[in-house]
Amino acid sequence: MSDKLWGGAFQDARSSVIDDFAASISFDIRLAKYDIEGSIAHVKMLAKCKIIKLKERDIIIKGLKKIADEVGKLAPEEDIHLSIEKRLHKKIGKVAGKLHTARSRNDQIALDMRLYLRDEIKAILNLLKALEKSILNLAEGNLDVVMPGFTHLQHAQPVLFSHHIMTYFYMLERDKKRLRNALLEVDCLPLGAGALAGSTLPIEPRFVARLLNFSRVCEHSIDAVSDRDFILEFLSAGAILMMHLSRLSEELIMWASPEFDFITLDETVLTGSSMMPQKKNPDIAELIRGKCGRVYGNLVNTLTMMKGLPLSYNRDMQEDKEPLFDTVDTLKRSLEVYPVFLKALHLNVERITSLAQEGFTTATDLAEYLVTKGIPFRKAHEKVGKLVLHCIKNKKNFTDLSDKDFHSFGFGSDVKKLLKPEVSVKRRKSTSPREVRRLIEKARKTLNA
Ligand code: ARG
Repeated sequence: MSDKLWGGAFQDARSSVIDDFAASISFDIRLAKYDIEGSIAHVKMLAKCKIIKLKERDIIIKGLKKIADEVGKLAPEEDIHLSIEKRLHKKIGKVAGKLHTARSRNDQIALDMRLYLRDEIKAILNLLKALEKSILNLAEGNLDVVMPGFTHLQHAQPVLFSHHIMTYFYMLERDKKRLRNALLEVDCLPLGAGALAGSTLPIEPRFVARLLNFSRVCEHSIDAVSDRDFILEFLSAGAILMMHLSRLSEELIMWASPEFDFITLDETVLTGSSMMPQKKNPDIAELIRGKCGRVYGNLVNTLTMMKGLPLSYNRDMQEDKEPLFDTVDTLKRSLEVYPVFLKALHLNVERITSLAQEGFTTATDLAEYLVTKGIPFRKAHEKVGKLVLHCIKNKKNFTDLSDKDFHSFGFGSDVKKLLKPEVSVKRRKSTSPREVRRLIEKARKTLNA
């Protein structure tokens, strides 16, 4: 007979190449804590339903708790479930054989993944909150700094730096919403589904759900063991979150370049070059931008792995683990490092402010000025366009123009007071320091709620 816990019907000697290939213990070992937590709840239910004796329950739970304290000592079996069960046999003898009553590794692994993901999503939500706080601090600390707002990476209209950077707060808030939604899907107990069709024994999944703090039990046994959409929802929320971090990173990298020179980073967060002695590079932001690729990959990997699987459980689904773990690790590490990086960031206020003037950023204000004089917007647009062309031809900015110049293009002298970027931001409700301060305060309240 085989030494496998599932080996009753097997007779022939096994090849280690085959067993090694099928094994997942090298990576699902990190589910040990959750596997044991699930098993303890399961055993309590078995005893409550009189499927095993109270004494047997107590022996099994004691054994499982001991194993939880010495996970490092687990012998590598095919997977975490078998490794734990084998060790339990070693510790408490044949009563261990009662643990797997009315349970399959199919509903067991679905449970482990849900327990694991529930914890990790909560941890990621906390890290996100900390990053949001860093962004608010950055905005508040530089509330009145005017910068050129961009579209197409061309100077567009003056905005406040605080306004610009707050964009990321809004993105991260939606990331949190998506993660909380994923959490709602995770919050469903699959145990009781067995391999796919439940059990003839009088089990009570609801009792297990209560013990493990699940608000629902999966209603349909085949569905409970067949789908990994709760993982996909997380992976897709994670991919969107990483896209946001990557965009922020891209901006910081650009801003730190001598061409932009918008920010200076403390050298504690910069990295040198092995060949060019002068270099101080923003590698941390580049790495986060780069890691976006693997997080997208993990989503596409898992979507592709699931596509075309017939019901119910298939071993392909063992392949859900490494991409999930990788996304969790990548998100957590990126979110941990980001606040440290942002703390080391200082605005080059003079430079940013001087650039807020460049590139005719107040052209739209001038067009709207003409609108207030009764000129249709399209016409006003054209007139300011002509003024811009005049300036380009004469290598001038709006501020270099005389009253006479303005008059000849149909503007009154009062237009000159509109040319300052700080006036421009104040005159628009959405960009005014007052409005941005209001948004920051509101954001703080959201975080503290
Ligand atoms: N290691 C497996 C997985 O990750 C556990 C379930 C295996 N079930 C089975 N019937 N072979 O999916």
